[in-house]
Amino acid sequence: NLYSDRKNSAGMEFGHKPVLDHVAKVTADFTPPSQPIAAIINGKEERGDKETSPLLNPTTGEEFGSMLISSPETVDKAVKAARDAFQTWGRTEAEDRALYLTRYADILEQNMDRFFSLCAVEAGKTIDDAVAEVREAADFCRYYALQAEKQMGGRIELDGPTGQRDSWQLEPRGIFACISPWNFPLAIFIGQVTAALAAGNTVVAKPAEQTPYIAHVAVELMKQAGFPDGVCNLVLGEGETGKALVEHDDINGVCFTGSTATAHAINRALAAKDGPITPLIAETGGINALVVDSTALPEQVADDVVTSAFQSSGQRCSALRILYLQDDVADDMLEMIIGAAEARRFGDPSDPKTDIGPVIDKEAMDNLQAHADKMEKQGRLVWKGKTPEGLSGTFMAPHIFELDALDALKTEAFGPILHVVRWKNDQLDQVLEAVNATGYGLTFGIHSRIDGIADYVLPRVKAGNIYVNRNIIGAIVGVQPFGGAGLSGTGPKAGGPNYLQRFCEEKAVSVNT
Ligand code: SER
Repeated sequence: NLYSDRKNSAGMEFGHKPVLDHVAKVTADFTPPSQPIAAIINGKEERGDKETSPLLNPTTGEEFGSMLISSPETVDKAVKAARDAFQTWGRTEAEDRALYLTRYADILEQNMDRFFSLCAVEAGKTIDDAVAEVREAADFCRYYALQAEKQMGGRIELDGPTGQRDSWQLEPRGIFACISPWNFPLAIFIGQVTAALAAGNTVVAKPAEQTPYIAHVAVELMKQAGFPDGVCNLVLGEGETGKALVEHDDINGVCFTGSTATAHAINRALAAKDGPITPLIAETGGINALVVDSTALPEQVADDVVTSAFQSSGQRCSALRILYLQDDVADDMLEMIIGAAEARRFGDPSDPKTDIGPVIDKEAMDNLQAHADKMEKQGRLVWKGKTPEGLSGTFMAPHIFELDALDALKTEAFGPILHVVRWKNDQLDQVLEAVNATGYGLTFGIHSRIDGIADYVLPRVKAGNIYVNRNIIGAIVGVQPFGGAGLSGTGPKAGGPNYLQRFCEEKAVSVNT
């Protein structure tokens, strides 16, 4: 069993002063790009584009660099490079592809220090979150390497009639467009790219316009792992660049993580294309719920709720948006939740002691603030955190609001805003109906010490990842395969045993002997 000695990337112990001092020092040591960062095609920077867009630090609001926006011509060049590289990479043995990927995992871990400052400056990520980014990225590389060896290492013989040899195998599709979000600028970027590469495809990747520098560094580091030029090409820009990529005739598949609205737009663009039918792998958002009954352990609930709702400033697709508290314990639970929230440090993400940093940009902050203002006007405010003083970036205070109907939350607020609803003893089924009625289906949690409650709830909830008596974020590669259905995505689970197959075609061969 190829999985039996599989290990996830190791964490860091921040309890020791020398470690903290080291982290503080390397995080302060940020080197901005010396010139506008540019697309990478065939291993070289493509500097022909003229239009630029600034790179902003969410903590200070300051510009620290810029990027050249890839034109449709640059996108076309990148796709051609991927097409050429596919001639060789598509025929490289799965075992050899796995070697590149495992080497790359080691290189990412060796560069952990560098990613502290990159993640803090470009994405406003705390040190804890930055460590998790690098670990998850390395895990994806190693896990998909194993998958490729296991599932693509040769033909699988099948039983057939005498006088015939029948077999089945997975093959790469060709060129994958990988379009990744800013909230996991390293982990999801690498997860998409390495799944496609492990399966033998070549890639044109477009990271979110807010976090291209981290992706640029990640692609540069691929050289150290020895990947052939052209197997992973990088284009930069906003929706127009993504549109040119998705609409390109030579793309054989799209892997996208981001909003449901953009997933719909990509789906429509692919459907409008003539020629081969291009598959979409999409992972989007969720109105994720946690149900707490009166038997739950209050201290644990408080900690898990605050972590699920506010870690990473609530900017995770898995984050908790709506908390259902059984009404006879709701007041006490809320008091403890507020206490736990107040104990979290809100501030500069490059300080290792910070728990919650800024949100990604002004647009995100304005949208969240508009939602919070509307809720506050309706008299729903339960608690509001303070924004840190002396920092001019996009800090959104964490908020807790109380809603008065089980199904009152209709849209995902992608940030540190938690909604609470009380439910009565006989309303569990109605709560579950309200959760399912959102149409999303990503994460869901239940806190209860009643035996069998999870068995009751599990088959009734439409969610890709269910957590019992713990927080609902931070899925680990190979441990909690991650992804949802409905408005939350097309279903494939990143870090799960069936993911690579979604990047493949299947071939059956029958030989008359
Ligand atoms: N995979 C992340 C988590 O589980 C969300 O994208 O939190």
